[in-house]
Amino acid sequence: MSSLTYVAGHTGLIGSAVMDLLVRRGETPLTASRTELHLTDQQAVEEFFRAHRPERVYLLAGRVGGIKANSTKPVEFFSENVLIATNVMLSAALYGTRRLIFPASACMYPKQCPQPITPAALWSGPPEESSLPFATAKLAGCMLAQSLRRQHELEFLTVVPATCYGPGDRFSDEGHVVGSMMARMHRAKERSDAEFVIWGSGQPRREFIYSTDVARAMLQLMDAESLPSDEIIHIGSGEEVSMLELAQRMAEAVGYRGQIRCDASRPDGMPRRLLDSGPMRKLGWKPEVPLAQGLKLAYDWYCRHGLEAAP
Ligand SMILES: NC(=O)c1ccc[n+]([C@@H]2O[C@H](COP(=O)([O-])OP(=O)(O)OC[C@H]3O[C@@H](n4cnc5c(N)ncnc54)[C@H](OP(=O)(O)O)[C@@H]3O)[C@@H](O)[C@H]2O)c1
Repeated sequence: MSSLTYVAGHTGLIGSAVMDLLVRRGETPLTASRTELHLTDQQAVEEFFRAHRPERVYLLAGRVGGIKANSTKPVEFFSENVLIATNVMLSAALYGTRRLIFPASACMYPKQCPQPITPAALWSGPPEESSLPFATAKLAGCMLAQSLRRQHELEFLTVVPATCYGPGDRFSDEGHVVGSMMARMHRAKERSDAEFVIWGSGQPRREFIYSTDVARAMLQLMDAESLPSDEIIHIGSGEEVSMLELAQRMAEAVGYRGQIRCDASRPDGMPRRLLDSGPMRKLGWKPEVPLAQGLKLAYDWYCRHGLEAAP
C-alpha cells in the first residue's frame, strides 16, 4: 500500500502550516495547485486519487471567509464546500485512503448553544443565519466523514479548529476575520486615520488559534496509533476575547494609534463561540502561541510577504 500523504489546500492558511511541519520532518507530501486539480471537478478528483492512491489525506481545501464574504457569496460558500468535501472523501474512500482529516467549523453549532461547545450540541438548533450556507456545507461534510467511518470503517475524522490566523493568511476583504482586519488596520495606520471601524457591536466573543498550533494537532491525530473514539475533535486555544478586544490587541501588534469604533448596524454573528477542546488536550496536545504573540508573528509575515499581493 502507498505511504503517500496528500495535502489538499496546501497553499492555504492551515494547509501551509501543515506543509511546513511535514516538510520540516523530511516528508514530501503530494500536492496539486488549483489549476492542476480543481477540487469541485468530480471526475478530475477521482482520476487524481486513482493515479496516486494516497494513504493519508489532509482535506484542507475549501471556500473560507469572514461574515462579509459569507453574506455576499452564499452560493459559492455552500456549493464549493459541499463539492470539495464530497469529491475528495468519496474518491479517498474508493482508492484506499486509510486516514483522512476534515476540518469543519464552529459555525455549524447552534447560535444559542451552551459554552464551552461540545460535539453533543450539534443538531440541537439552527446555526447562526449569516453563515448558514457555509455551516450547512460543513454539516454535510461532517456527516459524510461520520458515515464513511461507520459504514466502511474508514478512519475519517472531523476536527473543528477555532478561528484560525497566522502566516500565509489572506490579508484582504475576502479573507478570514484576522487577516482582513489586519490588512485594513495596516492601511489605516499608513494613512494615519483617526478612526478604525469594526463590523458589529464588538461584543461577540471568539476563540482565536494560531495556524501552527492547529497544524500540530492535526499531525498528532494523523500519526496516532489509533483514532480517538470521538467522531468530532475540537482544536481550540481556550483564549477567548471580544471582537473589540481583538481589534485593540491587533492595534498594539500593528502600531495603529487611532480610535476603534464599532458599527452596530452590521451583523454580529454568533454571540459566543468557545470550543471544549478537552479531548484533544487529553491526547497531550496544547497550544503554544498566545494571541498577542501570534498577532505580532502574523503582522510580521504580512509586512514581509503579504503586502506584495495586497490590492
Ligand atoms: N481558518 C479558519 O479559521 C478555519 C477554522 C475552522 C475550519 N477551517 C477549515 O479549514 C479548511 C482550510 O481553511 P484555511 O483557513 O486554511 O483556508 P484558506 O486559507 O482559504 O485556503 C484554502 C485552500 O483551499 C484551496 N482551494 C479552495 N478551493 C479550491 C478548489 N476549488 N480547488 C482546489 N483548491 C482549492 C486554496 O487554493 P488557492 O491557493 O488556489 O486559493 C487554498 O489552498 C477549510 O475547510 C476551512 O473551512 C478553517
